[in-house]
Amino acid sequence: MDRTQVAIIGAGPSGLLLSQLLYLNGIDNIVLERQSREHVAGRIRAGVLEQGTVELLLKAKLGERMLSERLVHDGVSLAFAGRSVRVDLKALTGSSVSVYGQTEVTKDLMDARTAAGAKLMFEAAEVAVADFDSAHPKVRYRHNGRTHELTCDFIAGCDGYHGVCRQSIPQGALQTFERTYPFGWLGILADVPPASHELIYSNHARGFALCSMRSMTRSRYYVQCGLDEKLEAWSDARFWDELRVRLPDEIAAAVITGPSIEKSIAPLRSFVVEPLRFGQLFLVGDAAHIVPPTGAKGLNLAAADVRVLYQALVEYYRTSRTDLLERYSQMALRRAWQAVRFSWWFTSIMHKFSDDPFNHRLQLAELDYLSGSTAALTSLAENYVGLPFEV
Ligand code: FAD
Ligand code: PHB
Repeated sequence: MDRTQVAIIGAGPSGLLLSQLLYLNGIDNIVLERQSREHVAGRIRAGVLEQGTVELLLKAKLGERMLSERLVHDGVSLAFAGRSVRVDLKALTGSSVSVYGQTEVTKDLMDARTAAGAKLMFEAAEVAVADFDSAHPKVRYRHNGRTHELTCDFIAGCDGYHGVCRQSIPQGALQTFERTYPFGWLGILADVPPASHELIYSNHARGFALCSMRSMTRSRYYVQCGLDEKLEAWSDARFWDELRVRLPDEIAAAVITGPSIEKSIAPLRSFVVEPLRFGQLFLVGDAAHIVPPTGAKGLNLAAADVRVLYQALVEYYRTSRTDLLERYSQMALRRAWQAVRFSWWFTSIMHKFSDDPFNHRLQLAELDYLSGSTAALTSLAENYVGLPFEV
């Protein structure tokens, strides 16, 4: 039977980052991932990093490529009623955000872990976690046709919303909070310059649209779509037409179109489970909470969980202190609920929820108020760049 100190389930950003930070602190760990390396590396997801996430990645010694390739954005724009209002994040909060794709973060993490000779197991099938309410949790899995068993001190459930860890906790030990939204985001990636040098979030009577980017030559755009929409129904031409309709004229005119290199639909969901610890099993990142992407918080929250958990584990192995591990759930949940609230609110004012014109008028009134109020803009900006960490 194999042994490790921390068994990490899932090689998304949270699992890989936790693995790297534990390794740098001399803590042995193994990462078990269901998918292939190529599949994990190819997923197109988040694009915006808070400064706190950037700092954690630097602490994990991943900085060089990120610092040279990221785009630092000092502001974002809100478009509505045919106009656009810039939120000066830097002036309002002193902070900026970084545009650096989750794909790149994942690549940097995988490269760093591989270079360090990490035990990173891709295509681990039938992963099962057991005995995590004892001092000797176990993980069983199949790899290359053979069954393996691993004993460890702790299990980190970094296996996303559909993972096995949360589902292995006895029913009744967890409380879940959930809100689904009656729409999704249809996203495309294209090798064309972005319409603007900063992100634009647009409220339109036909639905939300977002202009984002990965670099000055690669754009990422989203439009709100129905949950029952089929990707096949969305030719590139239809996507570009719908996007432009939902943007103020000046911005629409600046959209450069081109063939999509990726197209996908993501449902929107708010979800939190409490608590995040059951015995020696800790839930981290999307396994613990999901937010709609409007606030660009999911990856940042995953990194924030990792920050709390790795420090607690380091203290435990260094000094046998258990109080930080005991506080993990409470600390991570406090931040998670702030992000859940902000993402829900930002989603609520930017998306079309119904055909009721009263609702749209209320959204426009709120956006109008926001654009004229430094207090309201500061609240948005503080949340967007990321709230301060608890010490
Ligand atoms: P995941 O990335 O889901 O990783 C979990 C891993 O566990 C996966 O690799 C999965 O294959 C593996 N796994 C699952 N089950 C098992 C199993 N049984 N055994 C072994 N392995 C398993 N966030 C932001 O911060 N900013 C943004 O701008 C942003 N934009 C987004 C846009 C879109 C369209 C979407 C969909 C998401 C966006 N997010 C954003 C959210 C962000 O992508 C997620 O929050 C982030 O991926 C969470 O990382 P994670 O490692 O916790 O989970
Ligand atoms: C992205 O670029 O994928 C992106 C940016 C901002 C968001 C969500 C997604 O709020």
